[in-house]
Amino acid sequence: MADLDDIRDGDNFGLNTPADTSKFYLKGMNDASWGIKNRMSRIFNQKSGRTVMLAFDHGFLMGPTSGLERIDLNIAPLADEADCLMGCRGMIRTSIPATNTKPICLRTDTGTTILTEMNHNTLISEIDALGINATAMAAMLAIGDAETEALTIANFSKLVDIGNKYSIPVMGVTAVGKDMARDARYFGMASRVCAENGASIVKTYYTEGFEKVVAGCPVPVVIAGGKKLPELEALELCYKAIQCGALGVDMGRNVFQSEAPLAMMKAVKALIHDDLKPTEAIELFNDLKNA
Ligand code: 5RP
Repeated sequence: MADLDDIRDGDNFGLNTPADTSKFYLKGMNDASWGIKNRMSRIFNQKSGRTVMLAFDHGFLMGPTSGLERIDLNIAPLADEADCLMGCRGMIRTSIPATNTKPICLRTDTGTTILTEMNHNTLISEIDALGINATAMAAMLAIGDAETEALTIANFSKLVDIGNKYSIPVMGVTAVGKDMARDARYFGMASRVCAENGASIVKTYYTEGFEKVVAGCPVPVVIAGGKKLPELEALELCYKAIQCGALGVDMGRNVFQSEAPLAMMKAVKALIHDDLKPTEAIELFNDLKNA
């Protein structure tokens, strides 16, 4: 039985000691299976060690939100610039050409929408992940909400079992209860719970103290962009996350709701892979937007 009255927040994250990557270029993967390593190598650029994933899974929660009215028109044209496409099976099948060779991270849980209580999710069949030729699978892991915490952690653990059976990496999409602070303590905890349950990638949100979130998570961390920001602010967010050790982004709204999504995609990519500073990346964005 845990002593719930003596929980001490960790503060010794060895921030100056990088994880051992002597056997594989991504942290936490030294002893992963050949298949997991091979799939991770398709998602994470082998030169930069980072990834730019394009997220368009929002519709299963919120329908045809701004920028995702037509995946065939809004997202498919951006695919060449992404390292990986993250979406739901129905949209991939109907709206991404089958000739696409970019890795797919399939959103593998589904359930309630924004109209009711979110995160009462269930897993889709792994047969669809195999059928879609998914390179990775993603599911929500939500902590701090009595209604959904156990359910999402059970879903997530089951998905990792399936992923391990077929050597498909699983990405944890973190969420924290609606009454909880969206800070490093709770996103750090959600990220760590994903990793403890066998995640190969964790998607979370940038917060103050993000270096501790990353250091406490032994597998690659990528950030969601969150709500739409002015382009320079979104690029600054990506930059700060990378400085804290994130290995990329799985970004949606800040790309597809941009006034120039293709230019934004290219600017994010240059910042992530070529180490452009935010001021350089916004210059690139403006040049491309006005070209
Ligand atoms: C909440 C998520 C989604 O996967 C979504 O992809 C978020 O992307 P963004 O915040 O960049 O729009 O994290 O289900």
